[in-house]
Amino acid sequence: MSTFQAPKGTYDLLPPDSARYLAVREAIAAPLRDSGYGYIETPGFEDVELFARGVGESTDIVTKEMYAFETKGGSRLALRPEGTASVLRAALEANLHKAGNLPVKLWYSGSYYRYERPQKGRYRHFSQVGAEAIGTEDPALDAELIILADQAYRSLGLRNFRILLNSLGDKECRPAYREALQGFLRGLELDEDTRRRIEINPLRVLDDKRTEVQRRLTGAPMLRDYLCDGCKAYHEEVRALLAAAGVAFEDDEKLVRGLDYYTRTTFEFVHDGLGSQSAVGGGGRYDGLSEMIGGPALPSVGWALGVDRTVLALEAEGVELDLPRSTSVYAVPLGEEARRVLFGVVTELRRGGVAADFGFGGKGLKGAMKNANRSGARYALVAGERDLAEGVVQLKDMESGEQQAVELATVVSELRSRLG
Ligand code: HAM
Repeated sequence: MSTFQAPKGTYDLLPPDSARYLAVREAIAAPLRDSGYGYIETPGFEDVELFARGVGESTDIVTKEMYAFETKGGSRLALRPEGTASVLRAALEANLHKAGNLPVKLWYSGSYYRYERPQKGRYRHFSQVGAEAIGTEDPALDAELIILADQAYRSLGLRNFRILLNSLGDKECRPAYREALQGFLRGLELDEDTRRRIEINPLRVLDDKRTEVQRRLTGAPMLRDYLCDGCKAYHEEVRALLAAAGVAFEDDEKLVRGLDYYTRTTFEFVHDGLGSQSAVGGGGRYDGLSEMIGGPALPSVGWALGVDRTVLALEAEGVELDLPRSTSVYAVPLGEEARRVLFGVVTELRRGGVAADFGFGGKGLKGAMKNANRSGARYALVAGERDLAEGVVQLKDMESGEQQAVELATVVSELRSRLG
């Protein structure tokens, strides 16, 4: 029988690398938790219509990339391709917005699924940490989120990322721009697919990565020239708040993003060491999404950072995360009696808050010491029959190589004090 492999476009997270993923998730979450964001978890799948209406019928995510299926009970569901629609659905369902403390600030961390063409940095199963601030229109909220993402990346030691910023206007000014852009695009020589896109979602054409398309776009009307006074003032305030916070950004008037719910502020974090999949995170304001999925008007803003790509970006910059040791003490028993005694010591250490591990399987000194080394433990505890007869264990400092006999009765307190 052939063995199984992880499905195409997915990969397994294994130790020791997995520790870096946990550290990245934690580093992104920490500034959110410290800024009033509460943790939310929603199901891995939702009614397919939630994403069709929320993310947009014309987006690649909905038309090409969604894992949609029918259950045995006849429900049409989809694995979540993103988090925003689900989080808003959950907030509305629980009436969080009626509790009288807007904005409702939530953060989340989880797996998302898109049937994309796999390549480095683009997977069919990937991981995001995200934040949504629901129910308030305030440029300081947009700025807060961008500043917190910047802070998260910097706390990890990431430096070579840039923040691209744009405003997509609102329902007042975007329609006129859309029409002007369509008029311009219809006059260009473009392939069938792109011509279709002009009719459904013309702004996405601006985002086309192909150079021959970009060349033709010279002279296209730009949204900046169509923004209404409200959108203009809002955007200027976001920019001013970022500048005052010392967060550098680049105005990118072609930044459109691949989800239809955005209004006004949109932004993306790009890393220059990642090749074509350079977006390590992105987000923006989505003032109309709540109404699109049947809720009241709730202007909101949020972002999601890609954990997989953030890890790749750290690798590209050669950043070594300062990960805490997972094991402080490794016990190596030599013989049956030592196994019983040291297993007891390890249990006691663990209950006392010392991270400890044990040489299982009766490997003998050499093999067990190899495991002790690999565990990264600061101390090894070795005991054989003769040690036990003398009421001692050998305590080896794995950094200095020094070894000394310690009374069995005091070894736990000795280790606790040495490890501080
Ligand atoms: P998004 O730009 O589609 O936005 O995804 C956010 C981040 O998730 C991307 O910048 C990227 O780092 C990561 N990502 C997306 N697709 C993949 C993939 N196939 N493989 C690896 N990483 C990927 C959203 O999902 C919005 N919900 C963000 C948001 C929150 N907007 C408002 N609130």
